[in-house]
This record gives sequence, C-alpha cells and structure tokens, in this order.
Amino acid sequence: AVDTRLMCQHSFQTSPASSPSATKTLPFHSVMKHRSNPLVLLLLVVTAIMLLFAIMHTYPTDSLNQHYVNPDRLQLDLISQRQDPKPVSPVRDLADLPMIYPITPTYGRSAQIADLTRLSQTLMLVPNIHWIICEDSWTPNRLLQLFLKDLKLNFTLILTPMPAKYRRLKKQPKGCTARNAGLKWLTDSNKDGVLYFMDDDNTYDIRVFEEMRWTQRVSMWPVGLVTELAVSSPILKNGHLLGWYDGYMIKRKFAIDMAGFATNVQFMIKVGGVEMPYMHGLEEDGYLRALKIGYGDIEFKADGCTKIYVWHTRTQWSSRGSPMIINSHYDGTNLRKLQSRIMLSSRQNWKINSSYEAWLIKEQFSIHN
Ligand code: UGA
Ligand code: MN
Repeated sequence: AVDTRLMCQHSFQTSPASSPSATKTLPFHSVMKHRSNPLVLLLLVVTAIMLLFAIMHTYPTDSLNQHYVNPDRLQLDLISQRQDPKPVSPVRDLADLPMIYPITPTYGRSAQIADLTRLSQTLMLVPNIHWIICEDSWTPNRLLQLFLKDLKLNFTLILTPMPAKYRRLKKQPKGCTARNAGLKWLTDSNKDGVLYFMDDDNTYDIRVFEEMRWTQRVSMWPVGLVTELAVSSPILKNGHLLGWYDGYMIKRKFAIDMAGFATNVQFMIKVGGVEMPYMHGLEEDGYLRALKIGYGDIEFKADGCTKIYVWHTRTQWSSRGSPMIINSHYDGTNLRKLQSRIMLSSRQNWKINSSYEAWLIKEQFSIHN
C-alpha cells in the first residue's frame, strides 16, 4: 500500500488540478496499482531484457559498424570454384561466333552520354558485336557525334525521328521508329546473326549476350526491376510455359519487356514484313506476333529463366543543365571547352548568378598539367 501511494504522488505532481477523490477514476492510477505486483514487475524486466537483446542483434555493436559473415554459412553453390571462372564465351575462335546486333534507340538529354558510356563499355566486353544506334532526331546530335568519334566498337548510326503525329501523343510509342529502322537495315543488308532491342538506360550483364548468341528463332529470359513486381519473366514449370509474370496488366500474348528477348536475324527476314507497331505498351507483343511464332518456338534461357542478366534501370538526371557556365567570368578558361561537352537547358528563365564570382580564387599561382 505504501508503494502505491508513493507512485501515485509522482503522477499527481504532473497534474496539480487533481484531488485524491478524482484519482480513483483515473485509469493511470489503476495501472500504477498493478505495477506494484511483483509478478508484473518481473514480466516487465524480462520483456525489457528481451527487447535489449533484439536491438543488439539488429544493430552490430562494433565501432566500425561492420557485419562479419562466416563464409562457411553462405548457401552459394561451390564458392571454391571462383578461382577458375568459366569463360563467358566458350568458343575461342571468334569467326565461329554468330554476330549480335543490338538496336539502341536514343535521344538527346542530360544523361544521354552517361547512359551510352555505361552501355558501350558493357558492349566492349562482348565479342562479335555490331551496334545499331538509332537517334530520335532530325539532325545529328553534336554530343553523340563526339561520343561516337572515340567509340571503340563497330557501329552504324541512323537518324530516326519519331513522326510528329506520335510525338504529340501523351503516351508516346518511344523508340519504335528507331527499332523499325534497325530491322530495315538488317533486312536490307541481309545480315546473319541475332538482333536485340537494347534500350539505352538499362543495365546489362555481359552473360545475356552469350545466352542469346545461338538463338534459332526467339529466345527469352527474365528482366529485373520491371514494374512493382520487381521482375518480369515467363513462368515455367516442368518444361512448360504456364504464363507470364509481368506487372503491366494489359492483355498480351507475349507479356514480356523489351529487354527480355532476342531474335535470329535470318528468321526475321524469312518471315518478312516484321515491324514494331506504334502502340504504347503493345510494342513487344506486336513485334513478337508479327514474327508469327507460337509458344513452342520460344527458347527459354538464363538457366530456365532463373537468372537475372538484365535490369530495367532508369537514370535519374541529377542535373537540369543550368547555363551558368556561359557567365563571362569563365571566358578564357577550360570551362569554355567543357561547355561543349554538356547539355545546357534551353529554358529562358535561368538566372546567371553573379555571386558565383566569389568562387574565383584571387591568389595568383601556376598550375601543373
Ligand atoms: C518502357 C518499357 O519498359 C521498355 O521496355 C520500352 O522499350 C519502352 O518503355 C518503350 O516505350 O519503348 P522506359 O524506361 O519507360 O521503358 O522507356 P525509355 O527508356 O525512356 O525509352 C525507351 C527507349 O526509347 C530508350 O532507349 C530511349 O532512349 C528511347 N527514347 C525515349 C527515344 O528514342 N525517344 C524518346 O522520346 C524517348
Ligand atoms: Mn528505360
């Protein structure tokens, strides 16, 4: 009883208006009364200890905040074989390898050269590649030309502006003109090999190229980061195609992302008249239907569609391209040349902030190049 009074007094201090009679009706008062029970106290202490343990196991306690993993506990297959990795291309003689023709639609924007740098340096690791770059523009983009000048890859550049009637649409069929131009170039030059629609902002594991290289008609594999479902893939069970796992809920015969399939060029040419329709969301399905394939014609790759070798990433443009660099303070400096390497915003309402003058160092000293 003494305990109860002590604890109640403490709670009374925080509410000076309460009288002893009023405290009887306070739920807080009754809770406090229970806490005096040694069993309840014991329960509270046990719970507190358990909570402490849980927190200690969630956050590593060592000062470097590192988490050490015992390699023996990892469930990966045959880690010990890492010292002798399988070559990505098992065929040594390049002349025996079918050519791969990636068709890449691209268009001018701040991140274009950054995206194409990543893409081209992936392709540089792949043998027997001829890259078909199709630019959505009426006139050649100067930055793209600068980029291509130094490119160490076989490539063909085609100008493929999206027709104005599609450009006006709210949901544009992006890259269709480009891909159709690539198909036409392959057909006109009667190429042998495999074609792959390779968007310029995705992330490609070089293993995907070896998966597609021997495609007879159409090969398919999963694509990561597509819609809320995090992956898009054919659904396979015991050697049968059950359907499509894809978050884009419109009725399609082939519910697959652009990066999830490749086609044999000669097969496409023989079918004849194959094009990608200018229909937002139905580009892939329309193209695959035009190939007149059945489900039985599909070659499922990436270990029975269990591996992800392509990711549908999107580049966040961290710059909107302020034209600050044209400020005359920078005349005669290297910034005049850098200016020609970046895409500046054409918006008129940017302010050229003269306070940037403060960034110029007044001290004189010579630099070493
Ligand atoms: C979505 C789909 O997930 C892709 O599989 C599909 O290829 C694409 O739309 C499409 O509509 O064709 P998303 O990331 O939204 O992908 O599209 P983007 O990456 O913005 O564009 C797809 C390709 O078209 C890119 O290579 C891009 O450079 C090119 N593009 C985009 C143009 O050529 N012109 C444009 O105005 C916009
Ligand atoms: Mn994209």
